Amino acid sequence: MRVLISEGKIRDRVRELGTQLSSEYSGRPLTILGVLTGSVVLLADLIRATSVPLRVALISASSYGGTRTSPGSLSVNSSLVPDLKGRDVVILDDIFDTGHTMVSLYEAVKGFEPNSVKSAVLLWKSDRTTVDLTPDYFGFSIPDEFVVGYGMDYNDEFRHLPYIGIPDNDDLIAAGG
Ligand code: IMP
Ligand code: MG
Repeated sequence: MRVLISEGKIRDRVRELGTQLSSEYSGRPLTILGVLTGSVVLLADLIRATSVPLRVALISASSYGGTRTSPGSLSVNSSLVPDLKGRDVVILDDIFDTGHTMVSLYEAVKGFEPNSVKSAVLLWKSDRTTVDLTPDYFGFSIPDEFVVGYGMDYNDEFRHLPYIGIPDNDDLIAAGG
């Protein structure tokens, strides 16, 4: 496993994002909507780096028939989402790759009649993005590499790593891929 972004660099950047959100959402009814499962580590760290009152909620999006990095059609499950009407929502995901996941989530969230919707991600693979949308907040722009750790998985493994790494072939085989 090659370390792409160290634990310390992630910590510093997440603190900066928390400070940015705190100033932009001061006095507003903020709900941070974490996308299961990849955002949970970021969600836990980011909310503790944010000093304004906020609510936390969860949503999930699964792709069907896709490959490791190219999702097929997407299904958004909003059954865990509380009332978002009139609230300022930040959709929080681990990584913005092609952008299709975030576009589908935006559409689903708009149906709840929030006051505003923005997107935040830790990583943005800008070279791979094929939608018009871009993330409103992102931690790091990264090259087109498959990454794991800090919530991100391969075959549901590696989410617990405190850093972001690029797995080699032996890592992928060990994960049963
Ligand atoms: P998008 O719809 O192409 O933007 O894909 C976003 C989703 O694909 C993210 O929520 C991740 O679950 C997954 N994904 C994309 N790239 C990676 C990666 O390098 N490692 C792990 N998951 C990834
Ligand atoms: Mg995901």
